[in-house]
Amino acid sequence: MKTNHLKIFVMTAIVLPLLVLMGINAGTSTVSASAEDDAAALYKKNTCFACHKADASKYFDVAETDEALVEIILKGKKGEKPPYMPAYEAKGIDAVKAAALVAYMRGLRSAAGE
Ligand code: HEC
Repeated sequence: MKTNHLKIFVMTAIVLPLLVLMGINAGTSTVSASAEDDAAALYKKNTCFACHKADASKYFDVAETDEALVEIILKGKKGEKPPYMPAYEAKGIDAVKAAALVAYMRGLRSAAGE
């Protein structure tokens, strides 16, 4: 009887957290995969590539912080001469989507060896 209790205790103390961890990992990998797809679709749909190029090689400084880059996507940025970075907040891109776009653009650049 005592060993049975011990077994049950060990099972719940070790196996349960493991299952939970596996569940969380499976969950995040699907989420990040679809976030990546979404970002790629947004990058196309909003014609970001028209100014930034398909490989994000133009007007994108990887040294900037995520916060600064997200802010520019949301609010836009008017440089000295056109083209200007449009504000995308009013076009349905929220902070979460903007962050996914920044991650996507960073990925494009690191794929290019940066
Ligand atoms: C009409 C051209 C144009 C389009 C379309 C455009 N951008 Fe930009 N974007 C710019 C320009 C130009 C800058 C640089 C602004 C500056 O620093 O003066 C910029 C800046 C940025 C920055 C900040 C980069 C940095 O280093 O400071 C991010 C991030 C960005 N754009 C993302 C996007 C995303 C995502 C999209 C599509 C949803 C997009 N842009 C669409 C022209 C464009």
